[in-house]
Amino acid sequence: MLNAVSKHTGTSDRPQHTLTGLTISGNLVSITWADGGESAFHGIWLRDNCPTGLHPSTRERQWDWSEFDPAIRPLSGQIDKSGLLELSWPDGHLSRHDGAWLRRHRYDGAGKAERKPQLRIWDAGIAEDLPDCDANAVLTDDQALLDMLIKVRDTGFALVRGMPRRDKACEHVAHRIAFTRETNFGIGFDVISKPDPNNQAYTHDALLGHTDLPNREMPPGVQFLHCLEFQAQGGESTLIDGFHCAEQLRAADPDAFELLTRVPIAHRFHDGEWDVRWRAPAIALDDDGGYHEIRYNPGVGAPFDVRPAEMTGLYRALGLLAARIKDPANVLAFKLRPGDMMVFNNRRVLHGRQAFDPNTGPRRLQGCYVDLDEWHSRIRVLTGENLLD
Ligand code: OGA
Ligand code: ZN
Repeated sequence: MLNAVSKHTGTSDRPQHTLTGLTISGNLVSITWADGGESAFHGIWLRDNCPTGLHPSTRERQWDWSEFDPAIRPLSGQIDKSGLLELSWPDGHLSRHDGAWLRRHRYDGAGKAERKPQLRIWDAGIAEDLPDCDANAVLTDDQALLDMLIKVRDTGFALVRGMPRRDKACEHVAHRIAFTRETNFGIGFDVISKPDPNNQAYTHDALLGHTDLPNREMPPGVQFLHCLEFQAQGGESTLIDGFHCAEQLRAADPDAFELLTRVPIAHRFHDGEWDVRWRAPAIALDDDGGYHEIRYNPGVGAPFDVRPAEMTGLYRALGLLAARIKDPANVLAFKLRPGDMMVFNNRRVLHGRQAFDPNTGPRRLQGCYVDLDEWHSRIRVLTGENLLD
């Protein structure tokens, strides 16, 4: 049912894709579009990205970056009869770039802003407007699947209602997207109170807001937690937007924030069969200062080995972040019902639960993970972006 979803097209006569002029100044080529927009590109970038040299089938580059002078500039250029940007280069090469392609890949501030998903940052108030999805629609209709994928991308979570109360139903939804991410806890896992648990989730204790498996070099991307049975007293779920907590910290105490983006904290899981450890900062930013990920799980925090001069500051900064993660104003708390499934970005949204009393009835969740590469890829395939260069 892929054609239910609207597709991007490669070329377009939209004014923002139509080239109207160019100027060459030094090693920069500036172009204007019919909507009045203007963007500058480096000569080296245009030469390197000339599509004519790509392998015709794989679309892969067949040269490396030692081949051109970084200061290379075209000798001349024009908008040709078919509307392409045509540039002639000192080595005799002629490059042609499509306006829509240039628009999609422009790397000025406006282009970057246009491409970045607009994140919905939230606090406990999101309870008034939850990102709900219907399980049957997600399982059968690609548009509904895309809607769920985008909710998780932008809001960090979605609540899927009306799931079949069947074993491995969460994996069934996961397989609508891609393959699952296996870990030392298995492909899928049952979250129940067990004797001799190797993980706090497998008790009936409260779990503070945490991200799963920050003790790995690459923690799992998206987590599914499907409620199969719930009669026990207590056990409410919690979700917290880690980006919101980090942003509050950035505003209140920039030095503490900076420390948490730079100084690695250690996490470790170990039992009779495994010993998996990793050190990384609690907050990772992208190259524009936007949020990339949160890693935070006091339960599996390992003894920190940071520079002695930074130890006190690190504990202080983590304490400030922890207080925000616990602040009721930031915590969405709700009780899952059998048939509900929470789906959340484990590299942004922290999750937890209140303690429950296993003597008052069963509580059984099932979980699995899909990594973010596969998540974003599926969005691009469903929107047709994968077919564009
Ligand atoms: C987990 C977890 C929460 C719950 O399994 O990772 O945090 O509600 N479970 O039991
Ligand atoms: Zn967890």
